[in-house]
Amino acid sequence: MSLAIVIMAAGKGTRLKSQRPKVLHTIGGKPLLAHVIAAAGTIVSPANIFVVVGHQAEKVEAAVAGLGVKFVLQAEQLGTGHAIQCAEQAIAGYDDVLVLSGDVPLIQTETLKMLLDYHHLGSAMTILTAQPENPFGYGRIVRRRSENALEVEAIVEQKSLTSEQLAIPEINTGIYVFQTKPLIAHLKRIIPNDNNGEYYLTDLAGIFIREGQVVTAVEASDAGEVLGANTIAELVALDSVLRSKTAQKLMARGVTIFSPETSVIDADVEVEADTVIEPYVQLLGRTRIGADCLIRSNTVIENSTIADGVLIRQSCVITDSSIDTGAKIGPFAHLRPGSEIGEDAHVGNFVETKKARLGKGAKASHLTYLGDAMIGAGTNIGAGVITCNYDGVNKHMTVIGEGVFVGSDSTLVAPIAIGDGAYIGAGSCITREVPADALAVGRSRQITKEGWAAGKRARLKKQCE
Ligand code: UD1
Ligand code: CA
Repeated sequence: MSLAIVIMAAGKGTRLKSQRPKVLHTIGGKPLLAHVIAAAGTIVSPANIFVVVGHQAEKVEAAVAGLGVKFVLQAEQLGTGHAIQCAEQAIAGYDDVLVLSGDVPLIQTETLKMLLDYHHLGSAMTILTAQPENPFGYGRIVRRRSENALEVEAIVEQKSLTSEQLAIPEINTGIYVFQTKPLIAHLKRIIPNDNNGEYYLTDLAGIFIREGQVVTAVEASDAGEVLGANTIAELVALDSVLRSKTAQKLMARGVTIFSPETSVIDADVEVEADTVIEPYVQLLGRTRIGADCLIRSNTVIENSTIADGVLIRQSCVITDSSIDTGAKIGPFAHLRPGSEIGEDAHVGNFVETKKARLGKGAKASHLTYLGDAMIGAGTNIGAGVITCNYDGVNKHMTVIGEGVFVGSDSTLVAPIAIGDGAYIGAGSCITREVPADALAVGRSRQITKEGWAAGKRARLKKQCE
C-alpha cells in the first residue's frame, strides 16, 4: 500500500497576531513545521511528503529546505479542505494519504502508526482524536450510534456547535488518513462554510457518511501529543510540554537536571550521562555536551560542543564554540563564535574570546579579550591582556606559541607573533614580533623620586595655614 503524507502549512495564523507565518514559530528551538516533517519522515521517505505552502510560501520553503520534502502551492488560503484540493495532483498516484497539520507539532511515530493500522481495517477516512483537558476551540467528534463503536457521524467546528454538542469532550486533532480514491472523488463537494467562507476539510466526514463510506475515529492515548497552537499562549504551552519531555529523556539517560522546569533545553540537544545541569541553564540549538560535565546556573550554551569532564561555572555565554576535555570556563566568561578551548585549558572570569584557539592547558584566567588568536599549549595569559585585532577596517591575527608567559595588562597589536617560551613583561604594548624564548617589555621606564610625596604633603599643609 503506497502512502503519501500531506502537511497543511499554508495558513497565516491570524490568531497569533504575528508577522511570521505560524508554522515558522518555534518550540524547543525548531519551527513547528520542522517538528511535523520530522515525525512524517519516520513514516515515509521525504519524497512522499508534500507540504502545502501559501502564506509567505518562500520563507516557509526556505526554512525547511534541505529536508527533501516536496511543496504544493495554495496561492489563496481558502481553508483546510481547499489546501488538500491543491494537493490533488500530487497525491493521485498513492493508495492512501495521511494528512498532518503544520501546527500540531508534538505528534509521535507510534501514534501515527496506530492510526494507520486502524485505517487499514477498511475505513475511507480515519480521524485521530483526543480528549484534552480543555476542548475549547477544536472541532468536536460526533460519534455515530452503530455497531462499530469507532464510527463517526460528523466533525463540528467550535463556532457551529449546538449547546448539546458543546459538552463533547472528544476533539479532532487535525490528523487524518484517507483512501485516496474516495478523497479525490468527494473533495470538490465541500462547500464554503457559513461563518467565514472557508472550505473545511472536516466537512468530508459528513459527506463521506452520506455517500455510504466508512468514517472512523481513534483516540490518541496521550492528548498532550496532539495539541495545536493557534495563539502565542498555546505555543508557549506546547514549548513547555516539549522541553519537559526533552529534560525527562535526558534524565532517563543519566543526566542530572536540577529544577528542570527552570532550564531551557532545545529538542535536538544531546547530553551524556553523569553530567549535572544546575537550575536556570539554557542549552540551545545543536549543542552537544559530553559526560561528567558540570554546567552551573545561568549559563547559556548555543550550537556548541562540550567534551567530557568540562566545568562551566555560573553565568557563561557560549556560542558556536567547542570546549575540549577537562577545561574550566567562567564564571562570567563569554565565548563568541569560533572559540576552540583545548584540553584542560582555563578561561576565567570576564574573559571574552572570539575565533580564538587555546591549546592544551593554556590559561586566560581574568579580564581578557582574545579575538582572532591562536594560543599554544601551556601558555599563560595574564590578567587584563587584550589582543588588538581590529585596526578600524580589518581584523588581524595574534599567534602565540607554546609555554609563553604574557604579563598582565599587556596589549598585543595584531598582526603579531610571539614565539614559544617567550616572556612579555606586564603592562607592555607589543607591536613587533617576539622571537622564541625572548623577553619583550614595551612600556616606559619607572621613575622613583625618594621623599617626593612627603614633601608635597608638607607644602600643601603650609598653604592651608
Ligand atoms: C483545524 C480543524 C479542527 C481541529 C484543529 C486541530 C478544520 C476546519 N478544523 O482547526 O477541527 O480541531 O484543526 O488543531 O480543518 N491551513 C492551510 N491552508 C488553509 C488553512 C489552513 O494550509 O487555507 C493549514 C494551517 O497552516 C494549519 C492547518 O492547516 O497548519 C490547520 O489550520 P487552522 O486554521 O489552524 O485550523 P484550526 O482552526 O486549528
Ligand atoms: Ca490550528
